[in-house]
Amino acid sequence: MVRERGVAFPPPFQEVVLPSPAHSAKLVARPVGYLQGRARAPGDKSISHRALMFGALALGETTVRGLLEGEDVLATAAALRALGAEVTHERDASLWRVRGFGVGGGREPADVLELGNSGTSARLLAGILASHPFTSIMTGDASLRRRPMQRVIEPLTRMGARFEGRAGGRLPLAVIGTDEMVSIEYRLPVASAQVKSAILLAGLNTAGETTVIEPEATRDHTERMLRHFGAEVRVMAADDGVRHITVVGWPELLGRDIVVPGDPSSAAFAVVAAAIRPGSDVTVENVGVNPLRAGLYETLRDMGADIAFENQRELGGEPVADLHVKGGGLKGIEVPAERAPSMIDEYPILAIAAACAKGTTRMLGLAELRAKESDRLASVSAGLSANGVKHEMGAADLVVHGTGVPPAGGGLVAAQLDHRIAMSFLVLGLAAREPVAIDDGSAIDTSFPGFAQLMNGLGARIEAA
Ligand code: S3P
Repeated sequence: MVRERGVAFPPPFQEVVLPSPAHSAKLVARPVGYLQGRARAPGDKSISHRALMFGALALGETTVRGLLEGEDVLATAAALRALGAEVTHERDASLWRVRGFGVGGGREPADVLELGNSGTSARLLAGILASHPFTSIMTGDASLRRRPMQRVIEPLTRMGARFEGRAGGRLPLAVIGTDEMVSIEYRLPVASAQVKSAILLAGLNTAGETTVIEPEATRDHTERMLRHFGAEVRVMAADDGVRHITVVGWPELLGRDIVVPGDPSSAAFAVVAAAIRPGSDVTVENVGVNPLRAGLYETLRDMGADIAFENQRELGGEPVADLHVKGGGLKGIEVPAERAPSMIDEYPILAIAAACAKGTTRMLGLAELRAKESDRLASVSAGLSANGVKHEMGAADLVVHGTGVPPAGGGLVAAQLDHRIAMSFLVLGLAAREPVAIDDGSAIDTSFPGFAQLMNGLGARIEAA
């Protein structure tokens, strides 16, 4: 990220204040004609976590503008406070400040770290905690306590930390850290930016060079932002696309000014809603379009969507654009497995686009969806079934048969404590013949506070049920 002093970050995305239905558990989305208007995407969740964490590992003050004030990021802020960072917030100015403790300078948390629904908090913090000489305990909600942690436990154990957790390394998990970590070279067995980041963060407080070998490229916010804070991070990409990412231990990280771009994974809901409602004309402003995150937009264009990247610019070291979408006329396609890492969080909403398209959409290489906030393949499949959408689910793929006419709708979908399942099926409700309800919308606040208001500002009808 580049230093950006004095950049005026515009006010939060919604100017019209409507009563918030996001906190009532059950929500319903009713069919609407078309969507129209401009909206501003909330801050990027991945970048927001990293801005706070790296600020905590730096000396001096870090300022963050545009931070996502969602529950996941607030869980990271609370954990960093427990480790000794000063994390404060000026609400009116949307400005967050972090006074860090420096690499290896955290103190033993006095209580269990409660991370709510946030896998990113748990996995990245595991790397930080593992390289501190004390024991800490992480836990979370029922969704997070089901999620696999072995993927970070394994490399961090090789570096010298120890872990005590439930079967399969699930939370609650005790991290018995050490400040005598040994550097490793580690080939990722799954394409995971969270695992990559956990190892690189542990590598910061480890003598020598720690290398992660990444067969498939995943989001590179950690690499970009660590460099901005002053770490030496080298990335070598071989001809076959395999990347070797090396961090040099014991850098002095210094506080920086960070501007967080809008989240392409959140913008996706408004973009797909507009794309599947003929006659729509919507612009979502300030969306991060890092190529390692933008796979959904490439896919929607392949399906025939009319999406223009306007006003392309750089914000905080990340490419950003305003996405201008006009609705109508999607067709089914095959989405290649290689594209999965660049749109891993977007398959639930892509399945909704596919349900409204004409023809069959095949989505391949989706094994990782089973390890998200819910088993997203199973959650999507159940939601499609409840709303009359013909599809087949395999172990790692999903085939959706769109007819080109609006799906039946009328179903009640179990959100499974999964924000993206909740928001995706509400978007289906805007385009289906009958309203679609979700049993519990509370998880939406983990990544997209104000989702219903933003969508309703564009002409959606999302209400408490
Ligand atoms: C994230 C990486 C992805 C993504 C998650 C956020 C990150 O997970 O699903 O929402 O911030 O690094 P994996 O890296 O485990 O695929």
